Amino acid sequence: MGALFELAKKRDASCVMQTYARKQVMFVRGDGMRLFDDDGVEYLDFVSGIGAVNLGHAHPAVTAAVSEQMAKLVHVSNLFYVEHRAELACEVNRLLGGGMKVFFANSGAEANEGAIKIARRWAGEAKPGATTVVTTHRSFHGRTLAALAATGQASKQEAFAPMPAGFVHVPLNDLDALDAALDDAAAAFLVEVVQGEGGVWPASAEYLAGAERICRDRGVLFMLDEVQTGFFRTGPAFAHQAFGLTPDVVTLAKAMANGLPIGALVARDEVAAAFRTGDHGSTFGGGPVICAAARATIAALEAEALGENAARAGEYLRTGLRTLSERTGALGDVRGAGLMCGCSLAQPKAREVADLLLARGMVVNHIGTDTLRFLPPLLCGREEIDTLLQTLAEVLEEVAG
Ligand SMILES: Cc1ncc(COP(=O)(O)O)c(C=O)c1O
Repeated sequence: MGALFELAKKRDASCVMQTYARKQVMFVRGDGMRLFDDDGVEYLDFVSGIGAVNLGHAHPAVTAAVSEQMAKLVHVSNLFYVEHRAELACEVNRLLGGGMKVFFANSGAEANEGAIKIARRWAGEAKPGATTVVTTHRSFHGRTLAALAATGQASKQEAFAPMPAGFVHVPLNDLDALDAALDDAAAAFLVEVVQGEGGVWPASAEYLAGAERICRDRGVLFMLDEVQTGFFRTGPAFAHQAFGLTPDVVTLAKAMANGLPIGALVARDEVAAAFRTGDHGSTFGGGPVICAAARATIAALEAEALGENAARAGEYLRTGLRTLSERTGALGDVRGAGLMCGCSLAQPKAREVADLLLARGMVVNHIGTDTLRFLPPLLCGREEIDTLLQTLAEVLEEVAG
């Protein structure tokens, strides 16, 4: 690694809170699916900023939209109308099929905080006494306190007790457990269509349809966290569209502005009406620069038909991983949707495998000790996937040997 990396590493250790186990590389440039470190070494990116850079790095349309708006007006506040905010909300509403309203935040956690607030505000009138939000084991909804309380992973919560009250966790894909949990106290059910940070675990079609039905029967809001699955990651604009669901609330973030920070709480008109003036706010959310970036991102994702590619390439990747699994026995379960893909390793050596892949120019994420996760930009093609599979085969052989 170069001098730039060494300096950054030293300064990071002395002045940055050490909340991440950073990989030993410093990326200085990106182009599509490719990343370059400070020595000019090229990598293939199968992480895309954890599912945030769906268009690929340095997309010229996003760069142009941001530069143009930066030169005109950066920030005034949500107290005023600005360009791009309402237009972006209309675009999101269109992609979701209409009848929705949007609140702009800055991250996925914030979008989910907004969802929890609107659920309680809505229930205050529609279902008095109902305040709990039901979520699933292994779910991930963010690191702020309420989003963390919603997250179904005790290991991430324990050090920060007490958690805010009002959250109940049930096993994913277990309709009986959900049926029991959605009682008079339940205001909302919040679920990822494919759990991401929990290890890439898809909710089944029957579970999602059943969950929506039970929510309707009990007057409970059916809320989908599409922070990771949104914006064509799994094929359709939003993952739930493959199942014909009609959520009351959808939360979005990650890929919405191709790597720039944005989040959104989207609710059906009747639910959105629960928020009155002064109920919720954000200094930066919905500013003109980020909204220009998101509009350019959505336009390019559609123009380049990247959802179709995500569906095709995702199948190709999963087929390749399954073939590798049969051939070597080193991989277990292969799962996911579109270009959101996870696979278990036969041995708990995910970190070692990811590090060896990185040393060979493949940027891959691992979750825990036994899961590899692949979230490449949606322009990822067969050639890149073949290179990944070939390199993974070599690495698995090395680890086994
Ligand atoms: C499904 C889901 N929800 C919420 C979040 C939190 O998003 P953020 O890190 O932008 O706060 C994440 C982040 O990984 C996520 O995958």
